[in-house]
Amino acid sequence: MSEAYKILAAKSALQELNVSGGQVLRIGLGTGSTAKHFVDLLGAKVAEGFECICVPTSEQTAAQAQSLKIPLSDLDHLDYLDVTVDGTDEITADLSLIKGGGGALLREKIVAAASKKMIVIADESKLVEVLGAFALPIEVNQFGLMATKRALLDVARNLELSGELSLRKTRKDAPFVTDEGHFIFDACFSRISNPKELSNKLL
Ligand code: A5P
Repeated sequence: MSEAYKILAAKSALQELNVSGGQVLRIGLGTGSTAKHFVDLLGAKVAEGFECICVPTSEQTAAQAQSLKIPLSDLDHLDYLDVTVDGTDEITADLSLIKGGGGALLREKIVAAASKKMIVIADESKLVEVLGAFALPIEVNQFGLMATKRALLDVARNLELSGELSLRKTRKDAPFVTDEGHFIFDACFSRISNPKELSNKLL
């Protein structure tokens, strides 16, 4: 059922794209199984003649968009985006989010920050009362990994958050490497009652 809801959410996002006066819409394309449905639907719209120029948030999404002949660019050539459509791992009623389960969080943040508007699409399983059951992904430089881990644990302690930080691994037990060549710590805090404060401290 949740797949059907993901598709419904993606369809709604597509309907939200308002185009006025022959404007070519600048769209940020998210990453993950829900965003993938949106990209599929957008590809079909582009095939019908819809004009847009898109910035993908991962190599995976870039490959999908290219296969659908969706025109792509980057943030060196576009100074802003009209809208970004992306999924989420958890969301609360006040629209706080956990993102990055798919490992594309840094590009997702940069693309979202360049966008005038963000549409988050999700099935009902992502809605929670308090963030944190889903481990919070934190993308970090490989250099100074343990120093960064200590600093992150200090931030957590100061905010009275307890839990393990585990380095994300691949199936072959090697560290997971992001498109940027970074590692990811997954922080199992269980309950993040102060997401804004935590986010500010992690910047
Ligand atoms: C990718 O890094 C993530 O932020 C995804 O956008 C998020 O994990 C949602 O993915 P699903 O739609 O696959 O759950």
